[in-house]
Amino acid sequence: MIFNDIEYFTLRLIRKYLFSYEFLTKYGKFVPYYKITSGQFSPKLIIDRYLKYKESENIDIKGKTILELGVGATNSTCYSLVDHGAKSCYAYEPYVRFNKEIDDKIIEQNSPYRHILDKVIRIEDLNDVGPGGIDIVFSNSYLQYIENLGELCRHLRRIVKDDAWMVHRTDYRDHFFKYPFQFYKFNKKTWRIINTGLSRLRISDHVRIFNENGFEAKILDQTIEMKEFLKFKSENKINKEFQHYSDNDLATVMGVVSARVRI
Ligand SMILES: C[S@@+](CC[C@H](N)C(=O)[O-])C[C@H]1O[C@@H](n2cnc3c(N)ncnc32)[C@H](O)[C@@H]1O
Repeated sequence: MIFNDIEYFTLRLIRKYLFSYEFLTKYGKFVPYYKITSGQFSPKLIIDRYLKYKESENIDIKGKTILELGVGATNSTCYSLVDHGAKSCYAYEPYVRFNKEIDDKIIEQNSPYRHILDKVIRIEDLNDVGPGGIDIVFSNSYLQYIENLGELCRHLRRIVKDDAWMVHRTDYRDHFFKYPFQFYKFNKKTWRIINTGLSRLRISDHVRIFNENGFEAKILDQTIEMKEFLKFKSENKINKEFQHYSDNDLATVMGVVSARVRI
């Protein structure tokens, strides 16, 4: 146990101070326990999920203006959404630098993308989107990094249409995938020292914050790893800052929240 804690702490500090996002974009596949982002190697994985959710909610993307939050190093998923009939797509990426080399490769592998490039607009700031123009907002593996979801909601409320629909698929694990629940052991102060950006908000927090900020949110899909979580809980002390959450909340490793504007 102590060995696990030492290993975890050391790896987290190395990750925080030695590995930049650019480095991981390029060499992440060689780093133990690090998983490179899906958008980088297979936008199809993400798009298939978006299409599945829109199907289950009976939403049409044809002719719609879409905003995707946190697209990563390339615009690949936005090209694919336009290719599937969206009118245009804003690729919002405030954190990761655009990687033209990988983006060009993806365009090269998908010849239809060449004809739609002007319909994808990469932005770093949501203020670059005019008021009330967005029909659909998607994100994949993004919300777990957002500390101030209330502020994001206020931005979104300004730029989405009144009948807009959004869906966020969030990875709720501790991103050291060997230790998916390890971050429940630390209080805020310790977490700040080793954190590389995870807010540690749980799916119930996300639903509540959307509901408090002008949206009506619900859980569309949820992966709960209860057996592994209960094993972790029996072997470790969960910090008191997390003790008010239900086991279901803490055992949720992946979740999809959809939300509509509250009229
Ligand atoms: C895991 S990537 C997801 C990229 C893409 N949506 C995908 O699924 O391949 C996480 C995204 O969250 C955002 N982010 C914000 N703060 C971050 C942080 N500290 N570390 C990593 N990503 C962060 C970035 O916009 C980044 O593109």
